[in-house]
Amino acid sequence: MLLPFAIELAYRAGEILRAGLQQARHTESKGPTDLVSDIDKASEAMLVAAIRQRFPSHSIVAEEGSNTEGDHYTWVIDPLDGTLNYVHGFPCFSVSIGLLLDGVPYLGVVYDPLRDELFSAERGQGAFCNQQPLRVSTTPSLIQSLLTTGFPYERASLADNNLKEFSRILMHAQDVRRPGSAALDMAYVAAGRFDGYWELGTKAWDLAAGAVLVTEAGGQITGWQGEAWNPFQGRIVATNGQIHAELLQLLKP
Ligand code: IPD
Ligand code: CA
Ligand code: CA
Repeated sequence: MLLPFAIELAYRAGEILRAGLQQARHTESKGPTDLVSDIDKASEAMLVAAIRQRFPSHSIVAEEGSNTEGDHYTWVIDPLDGTLNYVHGFPCFSVSIGLLLDGVPYLGVVYDPLRDELFSAERGQGAFCNQQPLRVSTTPSLIQSLLTTGFPYERASLADNNLKEFSRILMHAQDVRRPGSAALDMAYVAAGRFDGYWELGTKAWDLAAGAVLVTEAGGQITGWQGEAWNPFQGRIVATNGQIHAELLQLLKP
């Protein structure tokens, strides 16, 4: 009942994102490189209203601020992940809907409305893309791996901005991409399209849904020191498991 509801929401939000792409977009700056568009807000308003109506007792954490304190179920929502891509018309963005149970990721749906790819997973039930089961890659070493990462918006004012790690890891991997939607980065690790992903400065709404996808597809998720990861900490490493130790090694200060 929860997963079909989350899937329905993701399709409805995807429709808003697809339609909005055809229109002139109004954007505001949250920081010099951090934007929010009227479409982020429209998608979030729809998602939050639908959750409040169906599950009035549940908690909500949403990127653009529509938060609700409730019971031990928490919906963690990124109404448009990849806003910068979206406003430039670069076709890489998604809607990300995660549900935590007592703070632990329980189900996740990530939808790419342009490719019509819906990634979904529920704890213990496996991960799927458009109903096809997902499995992480079997790539055994970093040098054979295609990796993905991201950089914080405030990178110009942060010494700890992932550039050092990026340049180090780039020399030890087959290649590294920076597509610009963390939720899709995680979905693609689950699908075996990327072998691993790391980032710092991420927020719970970027990764809560993707975490269930990666885990259910047989992957591994930790913090940068190999410690247990939770959605509210800002450093993640998500891999196919086989390259995890090698990637952690390169993330050591
Ligand atoms: C961003 C994207 C990007 C990641 C940033 C996120 P937004 O989310 O996921 O890939 O590198 O850390 O903030 O702002 O487009 O929702
Ligand atoms: Ca995001
Ligand atoms: Ca967003």
